Amino acid sequence: MKKVRIAEWSELQPASPAYALVANVDLVIVRWREEDAVSVLYGRCKHRGALMSDGMVSGDNLVCGVHYWDYQYRTGVSSYNNEERLEKFTSWIEDGGVWVDEDEIVAWERNNPQAYDRDAYQGLYADLHGTAQEPHTSVIRQLAAHGLERSGHHGPMTAMGVPGPELPPWSDIQFVTAQLARLPKLDDVPVGSDLVIGPNARRPLVLDIPIFVSDMSFGALSEEAKIALATGAEMAGTGICSGEGGMLPEERPRTAGTFTNSRPPASGSRWIYSRGSRHFTSRRDKERRPAPADTFPVKR
Ligand code: FES
Repeated sequence: MKKVRIAEWSELQPASPAYALVANVDLVIVRWREEDAVSVLYGRCKHRGALMSDGMVSGDNLVCGVHYWDYQYRTGVSSYNNEERLEKFTSWIEDGGVWVDEDEIVAWERNNPQAYDRDAYQGLYADLHGTAQEPHTSVIRQLAAHGLERSGHHGPMTAMGVPGPELPPWSDIQFVTAQLARLPKLDDVPVGSDLVIGPNARRPLVLDIPIFVSDMSFGALSEEAKIALATGAEMAGTGICSGEGGMLPEERPRTAGTFTNSRPPASGSRWIYSRGSRHFTSRRDKERRPAPADTFPVKR
């Protein structure tokens, strides 16, 4: 046994939790209300790990100050759910102090490793748990701890430098019902889903559906992925965009002959040529061998 003095008895207020740290384990000390007795429990709430020494005693319970989970302070067991239990360590009062056996706590820590880095930002108060309902908590915590040093001065970005959080999710897409603009059609009247880009152009681009495969070049995507996407686009009656990097002949059947690759083209009757801003792609156009495109996006 290795005896460790963790508090002065005279400084402990009855029913007022106090903090102690032994062998990398946060503890909570509770002097009982009406007897000269004390409990030393594992000091972190089973819910999200808040410090129980920041909580309060209410009746027979030690109550977490964050979301009010409670544990009987004499035993560490929750009355609400006996499965939830704060480990109770051996403790005693001697020579005006409260003592514990460090060996016992070390042995417990071996089976219950404590990940808290008490010298780091948020240290003692870090929330290592998180929940599935709070998917952004870890990002917020990382930004709070490291600023932008890990994500660059633009902050978190997704492909093409677009701030991910500002992109509309699929659930934001709303189809305005016909009733708001014109009389609805009857059930058996065919409705077109096609989209015409440039209806007044000499050769408008007609997509069968109002969705196309956007620009990710060969290189950013594998050959297999590009060909699969091009094939899928063709089957869906829509187009695929070249992306700003490498291009594949298989994406563009009408110009397949200008490429050395002899593989039969997979698709691409609606092919959108993507030319990047600045010099990135213009310098490489020779290698990319741009083919006659059905359209191209203009970027600013
Ligand atoms: S962290 Fe203790 S109740 Fe939530």
